[in-house]
Amino acid sequence: MNILFVAAECGPWSKTGGLGDVAGALPKALARRGHRVVVPMYGDYPEPEYTGVRKRYKVDGQDIEVSYYHAYIDGVDFVFIECSLFRHCQHNIYGGDRLEILKRMILFCKAAVEVPWHVPCGGVCYGDGNLVFIANDWHTALLPVYLKAYYRDHGVMKYARSVLVVHNIAHQGRGPVENFFHADLPEQYLDLFKLYDPVGGEHFNIFAAGLKTADRVVTVSHGYAWELKTSEGGWGLHEIINDNDWKFRGIVNGIDTNDWNPKLDVYLQSDGYTNYSLKTLKTGKTKCKAALQKELGLPLRPKVPVIAFIGRLDHQKGVDLIGDAMPWFASQDVQLIMLGSGRPDLEDMLRRFQGQYQDKVRGWVGFSVKMAHRITAGADILLMPSRFEPCGLNQLYAMTYGTVPVVHAVGGLRDTVTQFDPFKETGHGWTFDRAEPGKLTNALGNCLNTYWNHESSWEGLQMRGMTQDLSWDNAAKIYEEVLVAAKYQCTEYML
Ligand code: GLC
Repeated sequence: MNILFVAAECGPWSKTGGLGDVAGALPKALARRGHRVVVPMYGDYPEPEYTGVRKRYKVDGQDIEVSYYHAYIDGVDFVFIECSLFRHCQHNIYGGDRLEILKRMILFCKAAVEVPWHVPCGGVCYGDGNLVFIANDWHTALLPVYLKAYYRDHGVMKYARSVLVVHNIAHQGRGPVENFFHADLPEQYLDLFKLYDPVGGEHFNIFAAGLKTADRVVTVSHGYAWELKTSEGGWGLHEIINDNDWKFRGIVNGIDTNDWNPKLDVYLQSDGYTNYSLKTLKTGKTKCKAALQKELGLPLRPKVPVIAFIGRLDHQKGVDLIGDAMPWFASQDVQLIMLGSGRPDLEDMLRRFQGQYQDKVRGWVGFSVKMAHRITAGADILLMPSRFEPCGLNQLYAMTYGTVPVVHAVGGLRDTVTQFDPFKETGHGWTFDRAEPGKLTNALGNCLNTYWNHESSWEGLQMRGMTQDLSWDNAAKIYEEVLVAAKYQCTEYML
């Protein structure tokens, strides 16, 4: 089976969040299946060699020329799609107004769907039904639509299937209904995109059309699959999701265990940090904690619990709940480190708390992969108060590093972090059931009590976290099942 994984971002070249991590890691696990990744080329990437294919696409009545670059990297077959529209936004890949982003994604989906024609896959033949596109989030949700509209009667594409992965339903590619006319689709497709607003009127919605036309839909955890079907969690698309329940599946993300591995982590090889394993956990973590305190200018105190938050500073990630709970943090003997960027008011909040509590709070405003690794290794506890979290990767990274997660039990966080049971000595961390500061401090209080007073329970928590198999191999197997299912039963969307 030939799989083409198509995403608007991909680590390490163009990563802004979890989608970039997934696009950089899942394909490696699927690579043995003749798999390839198709992503935009936002800047000058050193590796790829030019394949010589150029093609013009019409977007908004204009001819735009794209080039296809092809390279094998880490066993994965990459196709980069290059054009001036992508280069212009290399420093902010989702930059520009909504219409500009839409036009980039239209162009990208049009070019991506034709990859099997323009960049033949090293001798592998695309036989009947052997070609599956995996599209990701609203950015590439037009791909299943183009596939049904224009390609179902054409050669290798005839039996091609598509799977759409929902990483975050909050972003849907919404706009005025007139946006449809930029997409260059037959007029009878308009209804696929139209969604009625509860307050009146209608709008254009790319995710809605993708969900209807894809042959299968996957989301990144079981918990989120369930939440998407509720009016609260579906963000207006729950009815469509319920109507298409038969093709819906939750698959929990894995992690790249080369990249996120305390034994190999390159960011722990200097400045006083150290690599460690389960065997050397105690000494390794003590060293990393001291190095982290030193690097951030916090008092060097080995026994004080270090609590971390790493994430985008926005409503979803719930960092404001930590802000609301700041008087409680101030009253505790803890150190709190927050890393992230996003909404200016939340960035200011981080700076303000650092200024106010010099000896216990650090607010690092910005996005630093190196610091994310170092904080994950040096902290004792990772706090994730997300209001919603389709999967969440930081709690998986934390557990791999023996850092105990305290999370709001929602979406993928509920699937992956089981509550500590002191009687049975089971579980991986603490969960709280409402995104409220009181609930957060209550769970964190229980966690701190165990940290201070029950050393062997704490070590048990760390050990259980570190010995789980969180690699992509498990998820990759289930993805394959879904892809095979798409081959035999597809969405009959024939207009
Ligand atoms: C999005 C989600 C996050 C998920 C990631 C990768 O960023 O918000 O929960 O882990 O995608 O699927």
